[in-house]
Amino acid sequence: MGEEKNKLKMKGYIFDLDGVIVDTAKFHFVAWKKIGEEFGFSLTHELNEQLKGVSRVDSLQKILHWAGVSVSDEKFNELATRKNEDYLSYVAQMNENDILPGVKTFLQKLRSEGKKIALGSASKNARLILEKTGIISLFDAIVDGNDVTKAKPDPEVFIIAAQKIGVKNEECVVFEDSEAGVQAAKTAGMKAIGIGSADVLHQADEVFADFEQVIQKGTL
Ligand code: BG6
Ligand code: MG
Repeated sequence: MGEEKNKLKMKGYIFDLDGVIVDTAKFHFVAWKKIGEEFGFSLTHELNEQLKGVSRVDSLQKILHWAGVSVSDEKFNELATRKNEDYLSYVAQMNENDILPGVKTFLQKLRSEGKKIALGSASKNARLILEKTGIISLFDAIVDGNDVTKAKPDPEVFIIAAQKIGVKNEECVVFEDSEAGVQAAKTAGMKAIGIGSADVLHQADEVFADFEQVIQKGTL
């Protein structure tokens, strides 16, 4: 059965960035782990699930809490800046080969069917990453960490994204790799598709390993 026969159902398609479009979640993990180690704290993959989708400031607060330390505002800002500089040194190496499997094909399919496409990311580096990977022009709207006042699991980022593409919340589907993001999408009244493991993303309406599987399903 050809995939072009499977028409997509929803009107608005909103994508998280880190861990959904590109595998930058591993760079965030490595950079935060280094910061934790400065306080004798070893970040595990299990705890890292609680950092996915979470803003830079909230992530650092969690790490310091887990490490059992408190720091001055000045030190806090220095740590956040240093983590970001380290993270950006990995991002600097990125190119179109870093787009996760099936993502570009799926975005092109959405465009060919006239669907509206938005980015809904907590990252302040989102535009840079979309530019480096050469897919920024495939998005009708971009809402990132510079546009929101409340971090996921608050639904603000997805609500603004839906407004920007002119689609009602209930006609939007969100693709997310984080628990915080899935929760945000559900709170916004949107369909939440998990990208990753169903064990972690149990609140999602459906979970796929990657966009090659999403394309095979074909009818979202
Ligand atoms: C989210 C990531 O997309 O963006 C988080 O999942 C990250 O790990 C957050 O903390 C903020 O990103 P940035 O690039 O502004 O530090
Ligand atoms: Mg993510």
